[in-house]
Amino acid sequence: MRAVLHDRYGPVDLLRLGEVPEPEPSPDEVLVRVAATSVHVDVWHTVTGLPYALRLMGNGVRAPRRRVPGTDVAGTVEAVGEAVTRFRPGQRVWGETVRGIQWRNGGAWAELVAAPEDGLVACDDALDDTAAAALGTPAVLAYDVLVDQARFRAGDSVLVNGAAGALGGYVVQLARALGASRVVGVDAGDRLDLVRAAGADVTVDYRAEDVTRRLERYDVVVDVASTRPFREWRPVVADGGRYIRVGHDHYGRGMNRITGSMGPILGLLAASLVVPELPRPGRTTPRRERLDRLAALVAEGRLRPVVDRTYPLADVVPAMQRLQEGRARGRIVLVP
Ligand SMILES: NC(=O)c1ccc[n+]([C@@H]2O[C@H](COP(=O)([O-])OP(=O)(O)OC[C@H]3O[C@@H](n4cnc5c(N)ncnc54)[C@H](OP(=O)(O)O)[C@@H]3O)[C@@H](O)[C@H]2O)c1
Repeated sequence: MRAVLHDRYGPVDLLRLGEVPEPEPSPDEVLVRVAATSVHVDVWHTVTGLPYALRLMGNGVRAPRRRVPGTDVAGTVEAVGEAVTRFRPGQRVWGETVRGIQWRNGGAWAELVAAPEDGLVACDDALDDTAAAALGTPAVLAYDVLVDQARFRAGDSVLVNGAAGALGGYVVQLARALGASRVVGVDAGDRLDLVRAAGADVTVDYRAEDVTRRLERYDVVVDVASTRPFREWRPVVADGGRYIRVGHDHYGRGMNRITGSMGPILGLLAASLVVPELPRPGRTTPRRERLDRLAALVAEGRLRPVVDRTYPLADVVPAMQRLQEGRARGRIVLVP
């Protein structure tokens, strides 16, 4: 089958289209004929192998263990492993192809991919393949960040910093859909139209205004851009409120090449033992349950993927360049 090949870590222009054997699903996997897949910042990490510490998370230290990148998929079930009970051939599905942590080549940038049953959910008839592929990892992570990490409750006020990106856009939509009392989205320029469309009550252009100077406090602050230390955000976190630093390496710009954004995140984890605004790790919603909840919100029209552009699989390099240059307005989708 045709697939994007990733033979060594380096700039995104090392990627090329080639031929590999079709994957064989293991007993708990579903073989999906890929109709659409997407690019996002975590695939940039796996392709470049940066920061180096992320290679220890299973993608291979010297070279990638699996040759085909991509973690998000929408398509049709081709075959199922013998232990799979929820899917049958011919059914449309969307979801994630990696188990656990996203910093691994997930095989989705291909004509066929084997994905774990728990990473997939049935695709609503009203959702086309391109839009379904634009959910995947960022939508699943947004649920984790807002519901599990920030312990969001209906009625909370929420500030999202970096609200026009893949993850931030879904955090804004989820906060709105789950009953936030007020959502403030921080990003820049014409991207703020996306933030308003996602449901923010107020948008703030970070290039024109420092949102921490406003006399307003929030129950939840989700800091996707992660360019400033927690101490500068602390004054805007309400009593009993929670601050989550997601961490962003800005496609290598100013990044520590060894640890990336992991240093400050580990520091906050240690500080969470004594600082009430930093929630300690707690219960995580199982992935299947997260996907079911996200799919229900999609079916109700309360979660809507925004697609920037669609590229054929052969144009993976310009697609990745558009992502890392910050030109995307919504998700970038690849079509085999
Ligand atoms: N996306 C995923 O699927 C996923 C999965 C796991 C983990 N993560 C982690 O989550 C992080 C965010 O991912 P993402 O996909 O949402 O990134 P993204 O699409 O690159 O979005 C980041 C947004 O933040 C904005 N921004 C940059 N500097 C800012 C600042 N100083 N203040 C406010 N906004 C600023 C950017 O706008 P500009 O154009 O102005 O720079 C952009 O709109 C990444 O570090 C990633 O590792 C993501």
